[in-house]
Parts: sequence; C-alpha cells; structure tokens
Amino acid sequence: MSGPVGVGVIGAGVISNQYLENLVTAADLAVLMVADLDPARAAAQAAAYGVPSSGTVSELLARDDIEIVVNLTIPAAHVPVALDALAAGKHVWSEKPFALDLESGQALLDEAHRVGLRVACAPDTVLGAGVQTGRRLLESGAIGTPLTAFTAFQVSGPEAWHPNPDFLYARGAGPLFDMGPYYLSTLVQLLGPAARVAARGSQARASRIIASGPRQGESFAVEVPTHVSALIDFEGGATAQSTFSFQSSRPRVGVVEIAGTEGTLSLPDPNMFDGELRIWRDGMFDESEAEVVPATGSTFSRGAGVVELARAIRAGRPERASGEFAFHVLDIMVSTQLSAETDGAAVDITSTVPIPPALPETWNPTEQTL
Ligand SMILES: NC(=O)c1ccc[n+]([C@@H]2O[C@H](COP(=O)([O-])OP(=O)(O)OC[C@H]3O[C@@H](n4cnc5c(N)ncnc54)[C@H](O)[C@@H]3O)[C@@H](O)[C@H]2O)c1
Repeated sequence: MSGPVGVGVIGAGVISNQYLENLVTAADLAVLMVADLDPARAAAQAAAYGVPSSGTVSELLARDDIEIVVNLTIPAAHVPVALDALAAGKHVWSEKPFALDLESGQALLDEAHRVGLRVACAPDTVLGAGVQTGRRLLESGAIGTPLTAFTAFQVSGPEAWHPNPDFLYARGAGPLFDMGPYYLSTLVQLLGPAARVAARGSQARASRIIASGPRQGESFAVEVPTHVSALIDFEGGATAQSTFSFQSSRPRVGVVEIAGTEGTLSLPDPNMFDGELRIWRDGMFDESEAEVVPATGSTFSRGAGVVELARAIRAGRPERASGEFAFHVLDIMVSTQLSAETDGAAVDITSTVPIPPALPETWNPTEQTL
C-alpha cells in the first residue's frame, strides 16, 4: 500500500490538543476522525484542527479507512479501548501507561500477537532530540562506562492546572504511573532493561482540591501514593535512584543524570523533545564549566511515535515505541509500587526488552515517505 496511513483519535481531552496539532502536519498520516464518550467534545476538537469527521467510538472503529487508533483516553480505559480497536482490525497507539496492571498488559500484548496487529505506546519523547542525542553520546563513549543514574520529578501536584485531575490520583496514575514512563523509558533507552527495584512511598493527604476550570474548589479522593523513591538495578550492572513526587512545594522536574567512569551526562527534561545536554568532568564545580551539547534530531513533539509506527507498519519492521517496551516500563512501575507496599523489599523485574535502534539524526516525521 502507498499513501498516508489513516488515523482515528479516541479521547478528545487535554492532551488531544498537542497530538492533533502535530498529527495533522505529518504527510504520512491522514487524520480522519475524532471520537469521545462526549461527542460534542470530539466535534469541537475535530473542528479546531481541521479533522473531517467526529462521532462515537463505535462509528470510528467501523471505518475501513482508519488503520491506526490513537488512544488518548484516561488510563483505566487504555486497555479496553485498545482491545476494541484490535477487535476491529486496527493497530493502536496508546497514551501511557500501557495498562493498569501486568495481567491486563500481558493480555493486550498476547491479543495483538494473536491477531497480528501492533499496540505501540507513549512516551514518544524517547524519540525526541534530547534522549536520542543522549543515546549517541553514551554510545560514542562520551562519559565512559555508565555506572549510576539520578532522576527527579517533584511538584505539588497537577490539580493546580488540570481541570479534571481525579484520574491523575487514581489507580494507574499518581506520580509513579503518570510521570514514571518518561523517566523510566529514558533510563531503559540509555542503560538497558531493569532487573530489580526497591522503593519507598507515602501519601501526604487523603483528598485534594481542584484549583482550576469549571470544577474549581471540588474535593476528590487520592487513591495512590503521592511520593515514591526507587532504587533500580539494571541488567547491565548500572543502578539508578529515582524520585517521583506530587507532594513537594519545591518544584524540581526534568532531572536525568548519568554518571560514568569518565564524566557525568545531564539530559534535558524527558517529558520534552529537545533541550541542552551537559557533560561534566572531574574538577568542574560550576554549571558554567560543563560542556554544553545541543540536542540534535527531531523536535516534532507528541505524535512522533504515531508517525514512526505508521512507517514501521508499512515497512514490516518493529516500531520503536513498542508495546513490549512499554510493558517492561509498566513492569518496573508495578514492581516499584509492590516494593513500596512491602516495606521496601526488593522485587525482581521478570520482563525484559531489546533496546530499539537509535533514530537517524535526520529523521523527519513531517516529510512524505509513504
Ligand atoms: N494532560 C496532559 O498534559 C498529558 C500529557 C501526556 C500524556 N497524557 C495522557 O493522556 C491521557 C489523557 O489525558 P488527558 O489529560 O487528555 O485526560 P482528559 O480527562 O482531559 O481527557 C480524556 C478524554 O478521554 C475520554 N474518554 C475516557 N474514556 C473513554 C472511552 N472509554 N472511550 C472514549 N473516550 C473516552 C474522556 O471523555 C475525555 O474527553 C492520559 O493517559 C494521560 O496520562 C496527558
């Protein structure tokens, strides 16, 4: 087949803005329809981004011209929507997390294999210039052998800005499952698969209050830990120390550092697609002394993974942001949570995954290749 791959977007909430803005500019994709449980919201998003139609999920899944479903629903709906899309003969790109638990994640992978379709998954930030430049630097030996990593994400909580933040404090979210995919996917890209984790968690408050939008002032229940600190062992011998927190008044986000035998590499925010990297050598005491390396590669932003998936489908090769990769990241998160719930006892991570090939520096999601 030649020509653009037909795409249907399910879930017309906050993040659909970033996706739709980008997807409609990709020559290898044809965004044909937006669907949501709320058809008015789907219609508004379709109109705003020039998508020709909108409607219900079943109307979208009934269309023959849609090959990829972009699943931007809330975490609890990711697997059910993905299974419905597979049943309708469609490949899937899901927002993170891949699933709420390992059982449903494995069932989704098994079903995709059975029917011969793909279940790719966010984050596609790992395809962005920041992480890809980091991979190239590590592979060129810029800091010698990577030994340890340090990541930090801490804020007071997304109810400060998200108009419907309940799902971000429900099972399948919290700082670990909501932000962990960016940091952990980056660590796996840079250090390889993880083998073991030990963690501690806590919950500062049992309820939170929405700070913006039509529901401002409304209280909602917190179901998950809102602070998690993990010590992760990687199969290759490196270790990482990672903090994910929605309960710190001091914001500190986007910290990813890899210390090696010859230097320390700091990467840009793994929730972004570009930025600057820095290499530190022994004897440097000030940030101004570190060598600055600009990120080079694609800065297309969210949706890059959908383009990469579409091209992989047409080429008959594996996609880079694969379901298997996302399942391994889910396994790290589930194991981290289990350790935190069992007084920090170490948990073996039983899944593993091959690291996908790095992207060429010239990779361009907007150009027409199909
Ligand atoms: N908001 C962000 O900044 C952000 C950033 C990156 C990733 N994400 C991820 O994107 C996903 C969506 O987040 P959001 O902030 O857009 O949420 P949201 O609540 O703003 O939007 C979710 C939309 O999905 C729809 N929906 C829910 N279940 C559905 C179903 N079964 N069938 C059809 N539609 C359904 C809802 O009606 C709603 O319009 C989450 O997985 C989140 O982790 C969000």
